[in-house]
Amino acid sequence: MDGVTLVDHPLVQHKLSIMRDKGTSTGSFRRLLREISLLLCYEVTRDLELTTKKIETPMEEMDAPVLKGKKLVFASILRAGNGLLEGMLDLVPSARVAHVGLYRDHETLEAIEYYYKAPHDLSDRVVIAVDPMLATANSATAAIEKLQASGAKDIRFLCLLAAPEGIANFRKALPDVPIYTAAIDERLNENGYIVPGLGDAGDRMYGTK
Ligand code: PRP
Ligand code: URA
Repeated sequence: MDGVTLVDHPLVQHKLSIMRDKGTSTGSFRRLLREISLLLCYEVTRDLELTTKKIETPMEEMDAPVLKGKKLVFASILRAGNGLLEGMLDLVPSARVAHVGLYRDHETLEAIEYYYKAPHDLSDRVVIAVDPMLATANSATAAIEKLQASGAKDIRFLCLLAAPEGIANFRKALPDVPIYTAAIDERLNENGYIVPGLGDAGDRMYGTK
C-alpha cells in the first residue's frame, strides 16, 4: 500500500497478538505496548539523516555518525498515544514532546479537541505523531492538521493497528504523510471500531470503560 510501512517483525506480531487477546490484563497490555513501541520507534526512525562529529575513542580520533538536525518531536494523541510515547522516549530520551488531546464523539465519530501543547519550533524538526489506533482516521488527521498549522512540515504517523478505511481517509486528507503500522486489520464495524482489533485502546491501557 502506497505510503504505508507494515512493521511485520516477529516480535512485534507476537506481542500484538497477546495485546489483542481480551484476557490480557491492563498491566500486561500497558507493558506490551511500551515494549512494542521500542520496536516501532526503531522502524519509524530508520531513515533519519546522519552527520558526523569528531570524537576521541580510547584508541584514536574518529568522525563518528550522529543524528543530524534538531531534536525529534514525538506528538502523542491523547490518551492512548501516551502508551506508545513512553517506550519511544525510552529509546530517544532527548526527544521533545507535543500533546494533542482528542476524543471521538461516539455518535458522529468526529474528533473533539480538548488540549494542545507543542514545542514552538516545529518547522525544522522531524515530528512523529503517535496513536495506537487508526480507525476512521478522524483523530489522526485532526491532530496532524493541528501540528501542520503550528508549522510542522516533516511528519510521520505511527500506530499499532490500522483499518483499511482509516488508511484511505488518511491518504486522502494527508497524501504526503507516511504511515507506519504493525497491522492492517479487516474493517471497521458499525460503531467505528477496528475488527478484529483489540477493543478500545485507551480503556484497555488504563482500565476504564
Ligand atoms: C481512540 C484512539 C484514537 C481514536 C481512533 O481514542 O486512541 O485516538 O480512537 O479512532 P479514529 O481513527 O476513528 O479517530 P479515543 O477517542 O477513544 O480517546 P482515548 O484515547 O482518550 O481513549
Ligand atoms: N479507537 C479504539 O481505541 N479502538 C478502535 O477499534 C477504534 C477506535
